Amino acid sequence: MAIDYWSAIPNNVGLADNPALQRALAHWQPRFLEWWREMGPVGAQHYEVYLRTAVAVDQQGWAQYGMVRMPEYRWGIFLAEPVPDRRIGFGDAYGEPVWQQVPGELRASLRRLIVTQGDTEPASVEQQRRLGLTAPSLYDLRNLFQVNVEEGRHLWAMVYLLHAYFGRDGREEAEELLARHSGDPDKPRILGTFNEPIGDWLSFFLFTYFTDRDGRYQLKSLAESGFDPLSRTCRFMLTEEAYHMFVGRTGITRVVKRALEVMRAGGGEEPDRIRAAGAIDLPTLQRYINFWFSSSLDLFGAEISSNAASYFATGLKGRPDEGQYDDHRALDDRLTIDLPDGKGGSVGEKVPLRNAINEVTRRAYIDDCQIGIRAWNRLIAAAGYDFRLFLPSPRFRRAVGVWAGVAVDPQGRPVSPGEWAARRDEWLPSAGDRAFVDGLMQRVVEPGKVAGWLAPPEIGIGNLPASYEYVRLN
Ligand SMILES: [Fe+2]
Ligand SMILES: [Fe+2]
Repeated sequence: MAIDYWSAIPNNVGLADNPALQRALAHWQPRFLEWWREMGPVGAQHYEVYLRTAVAVDQQGWAQYGMVRMPEYRWGIFLAEPVPDRRIGFGDAYGEPVWQQVPGELRASLRRLIVTQGDTEPASVEQQRRLGLTAPSLYDLRNLFQVNVEEGRHLWAMVYLLHAYFGRDGREEAEELLARHSGDPDKPRILGTFNEPIGDWLSFFLFTYFTDRDGRYQLKSLAESGFDPLSRTCRFMLTEEAYHMFVGRTGITRVVKRALEVMRAGGGEEPDRIRAAGAIDLPTLQRYINFWFSSSLDLFGAEISSNAASYFATGLKGRPDEGQYDDHRALDDRLTIDLPDGKGGSVGEKVPLRNAINEVTRRAYIDDCQIGIRAWNRLIAAAGYDFRLFLPSPRFRRAVGVWAGVAVDPQGRPVSPGEWAARRDEWLPSAGDRAFVDGLMQRVVEPGKVAGWLAPPEIGIGNLPASYEYVRLN
């Protein structure tokens, strides 16, 4: 069994020549498959799906496409090619050679970072496991499964690091990654957003737009790491992550387009009229944006963080795109952070930059999130409507950091707790919104057909038409 299996795992980490690693993975791999069957996509084990599989790390041609049954997907282990003479790019050890082994004094922190990242990967598969039952088209069903198998591969990537570099502790952590489950009251996933249910496709598109993008910024920060195997792993994961955000962005674009079609078809933009025509009105989309954006902001951690400062100082986790800065030690600069002043307003505090790294990363993320918002607003403006989507204030509905639990409206203005409660359903999806969106979720699996609440995709996958039979249900 072992021999077939190792040759079946595409990898560039010399798996065939590493018996110790093979033994560790041989123990974990059947548990992974058991987890996939129990916690992965519901009812989809026998489907044949047109999937991308990573088979190399070249810029060109790193992936193969073909029909695959998901339990037989070849979850590979890939690290980006090493950069010759790579040096640590930030912190106290700036300019020193990167580490190929884990420095003893950083072992616990590094393991924590890898486990926290690793935990999000299977979590999202669990969150999305029922979506296949209400897919709006075969094209979308395929995209869901593509994201799912690649999150599975990202789990493999983190488990590889744990097994290869952390000995017994690493093996125990790898088991735990399969034992925690999204939303489980006793053993939940580590981070809040990854315990939120994703029961409908509108939430799926917002999750892939906002939460996979958080992943992109975490991976960018870890790609700067002085621990070279982590850096190389994350650099390759970023290649795949781009597609997950494409799924989110184009999914929301199609929702907006469909709403605009219905609006233009006469009768104005009254939400009830849009809904009666089977589309999602833009104010409802805004409330879903408010929910998923605010939840995703918490994933970056507290605005002022001594942990972030120590990860930066020790060279474990940097700023995204560290190369853009001049001062890689970040010892002298300060960043102004808005804090609640306790009287309903805010006050700026200058914080040593190293303690504000989470906020540096969060601000880069917010700028990136604006790109889609601007594009959707251009569509709305071109259709002749004044409605504009927006990102709510970073103070809105926070559960982590200095604004946690402070009542502000989506513009960031303080409101009384009473007003917050009274207006909550203006700002966040209400029970009625969720019931309406859930009601739209009807499965469409005829090749080329698309559910009525979103526009058809503009292009297919690879060179195939959008109407291709991307999933054979058999
Ligand atoms: Fe991922
Ligand atoms: Fe992702």
